[in-house]
Amino acid sequence: MRSRSVWTSLLSVMLLPGASISTPAEAHENGQSRAFQFDSLPLGAVKPMGWLRDQMTLSAEELGGQLFDFYRYVHRSTWLGGEYEYSELNEAVPYWFNYIVPLAWTLDDQRLKDQAKAFLDYTLDTQAEDGWLGPETTRQTRGIWARSLFAFGQYAEADPAETDRIVTALHKFVDLAHSMLKNNFTGLIQDRSQGDNFDPWGFGVSRTHELPISLRWLYEKHPRQNSEVILETIDLMVEGGRLGNCDWTTFFVDGTFPKDTNFKSSGFTHGVNLAQGLHYPSVLVRCTKNESLVQQTHDAVDMTLQYHTSLSGTIIGDEHLDAQSPQRRAFASIGTILTSLTNSELCMAVESMFSYTYLYRYHGTNLIADRAELAAFNALPAAMSPDWWSHQYVTQTNQPWSRNLTEDPYFNVATYSNTFGLEPNFPCCTVNHPQAYPKYVSSAFVRKGDKGLVHMLLGPMSVETSVNGRSVKVEVTTNYPFSGTLHYKIDADTKYDFSIRIPGWTVGEDAFVIINYGRKEALRPNNEGLHRLGVKKSTTEVTVHLPMEITTVSRNETIGVYRGPILYPADIEYTETSHQPLNWTDLQPLDDTEVDPCAKDHILEPTSAWKYALDPETLRVGDLAADRDDLPNATFSRENSPVSLQVDAYPIDWPIILDTAALPPIAPRVDRSEKVNLRLIPFAAAKLHIAQFPVARFN
Ligand SMILES: *[C@@H]1O[C@H](CO)[C@@H](O)[C@H](O)[C@H]1NC(C)=O
Ligand SMILES: *[C@@H]1O[C@H](CO)[C@@H](O)[C@H](O)[C@H]1NC(C)=O
Ligand SMILES: *[C@@H]1O[C@H](CO)[C@@H](O)[C@H](O)[C@H]1NC(C)=O
Ligand SMILES: *[C@@H]1O[C@H](CO)[C@@H](O)[C@H](O)[C@H]1NC(C)=O
Ligand SMILES: *[C@@H]1O[C@H](CO)[C@@H](O)[C@H](O)[C@H]1NC(C)=O
Ligand SMILES: *[C@@H]1O[C@H](CO)[C@@H](O)[C@H](O)[C@H]1NC(C)=O
Repeated sequence: MRSRSVWTSLLSVMLLPGASISTPAEAHENGQSRAFQFDSLPLGAVKPMGWLRDQMTLSAEELGGQLFDFYRYVHRSTWLGGEYEYSELNEAVPYWFNYIVPLAWTLDDQRLKDQAKAFLDYTLDTQAEDGWLGPETTRQTRGIWARSLFAFGQYAEADPAETDRIVTALHKFVDLAHSMLKNNFTGLIQDRSQGDNFDPWGFGVSRTHELPISLRWLYEKHPRQNSEVILETIDLMVEGGRLGNCDWTTFFVDGTFPKDTNFKSSGFTHGVNLAQGLHYPSVLVRCTKNESLVQQTHDAVDMTLQYHTSLSGTIIGDEHLDAQSPQRRAFASIGTILTSLTNSELCMAVESMFSYTYLYRYHGTNLIADRAELAAFNALPAAMSPDWWSHQYVTQTNQPWSRNLTEDPYFNVATYSNTFGLEPNFPCCTVNHPQAYPKYVSSAFVRKGDKGLVHMLLGPMSVETSVNGRSVKVEVTTNYPFSGTLHYKIDADTKYDFSIRIPGWTVGEDAFVIINYGRKEALRPNNEGLHRLGVKKSTTEVTVHLPMEITTVSRNETIGVYRGPILYPADIEYTETSHQPLNWTDLQPLDDTEVDPCAKDHILEPTSAWKYALDPETLRVGDLAADRDDLPNATFSRENSPVSLQVDAYPIDWPIILDTAALPPIAPRVDRSEKVNLRLIPFAAAKLHIAQFPVARFN
């Protein structure tokens, strides 16, 4: 039997290797030798502009902004006095709140702020006597996980009028969570002998590093003489994960991490868990002094990139990376490798963006921020319909149609998961996808020390903040990533260091910066990828030019085509039909009273050919309207795409297996006389697409 004192001693061993006894506070302070390289700004300081504002406005006005009013898992959730939950985790409304707060404040949208306030009031007003936040009243149903999703810290910063009330409620909750965890990890590790049923699939226990992120905020900003309890709670979460066999540091290890098809699925191989797990070692390094975790973070990112990442910048998994399933054997039988399996769940793009952003802020490794941009400009918007009313559960790298498949090529998702719909499988993506852009934007500018401001994630946006206690305003007018030209207008009441992160793919002498209409200067990024400018008190105008060459990435003799950070697949024409959204559990149409009239499920059937091999030597720019100052709304659609490429292509045979495109044929022989001119458009604009191409062989 495990007793409390055993946990305590395990804990000290974990915290201070080689040292004797110390308090959690001391251990954490020691661990602060590694702080973030960059600090985030309060929510609302950064605002989107241009195409990014359009995308977020669509999210706010369409599905994301309407769920509160009609969607049963939000509107009639147990969190708001109703009866609906899609799983024992009771996580739908916490996911919703986790996005509605950043969406509302980055857009300054009063309607959404009112939604967030309604939930905040309800939840704080109904906080249980013992401090529990949420609808559950029994030990068996009270799981801690969903509370990790609260954006209470963001809310408290965005709306100072609520800070005191929020912080008081959080302290009450932390005291309770602390005593639960001390009591044999109640609420984290299920004890079946007690009938626990708050986490039957082990998702909460696989994500023990998420609550510590909010707790760390509480500890740093509002500790209220409760520091010891907060820090111990963080340590207990990590320790509970370890006891529950969900310590990610045991997984990101050469020899254990899956690199071929021969591995067992587990909590670690669940794609969304993995996307979140990427920042586990770095959360841990904040509570220990163990510098090996920094290297391990980089190993984790490298191995995930090498073995499980799609060309569009997300993780490949449906929902697990891979397993010894019959479907996978069917793929294997036509000769392939694990990395070529190319379905990705929308939540994997969302969580990858969050992890990569967190990791760049922490470590300053340029490649990692590039990965956040890649997912933000490709994988994420690809899974959204152009009007943001529907989304896919699973996006395929090669996706010749989007409909219910007659056979099942997936590991454990429904056959209609690649349709654009309201809940085209498990509803987590319905309530989680809208966090991606607002969090991207709110982390896009960060502080470096006391005197520096950094544009870390590129795109059209503005920031108003203070440096040295003086006000600073920066406006970035650009169509990046369609265009490589960014115009900065900087108004400052003080001189300070302003840095712009230069993406790693930028090459050559054509990359330059012009300050106040002066002469061109070469970009000189440091090893964090930052080009530094000393900005004077007054107005400074800066133009940065990042040349966007066409590049290809090879994967086992197939290729993906990029220009800058955008992936360019072949655009497939299609017809679209729509029907009433289906209930994901019984596949029957939902009643009219359950849906907004704009929410539909869509079926896209191809009407143009897609079986081609490319001649990469002939890649060239087609239309280039990337610098126009009025990019159309719904930028990611076939009609509105501002950039296209062209390439010579040749028809080939391409088998269909399990009702979807087989893996791309390797170097198929083609007939020169059959050459066609193929148009490539951004991945997210081509709702039907081929992005991983065979390369033509001519002899
Ligand atoms: C884009 O569409 C949204 C939602 O319909 C709308 O609010 C916004 O004003 C549009 N933006 C432009 C530039 O037309
Ligand atoms: C602690 O929880 C585990 C399940 O995680 C259970 O097997 C064990 O009996 C519990 N111990 C006590 C003292 O309740
Ligand atoms: C430090 O972290 C590494 C990587 O996870 C791990 O292998 C090692 O055991 C840790 N060291 C200690 C003393 O905990
Ligand atoms: C590339 O594909 C071939 C044939 O499909 C397969 O046999 C081979 O193992 C793959 N090679 C690599 C490095 O993945
Ligand atoms: C999708 O097709 C499968 C057969 O592959 C069928 O069993 C299922 O009922 C269909 N689902 C829907 C939503 O039409
Ligand atoms: C969805 O289907 C389930 C049966 O699996 C049923 O219990 C539930 O009431 C349905 N939901 C709605 C809103 O129709």
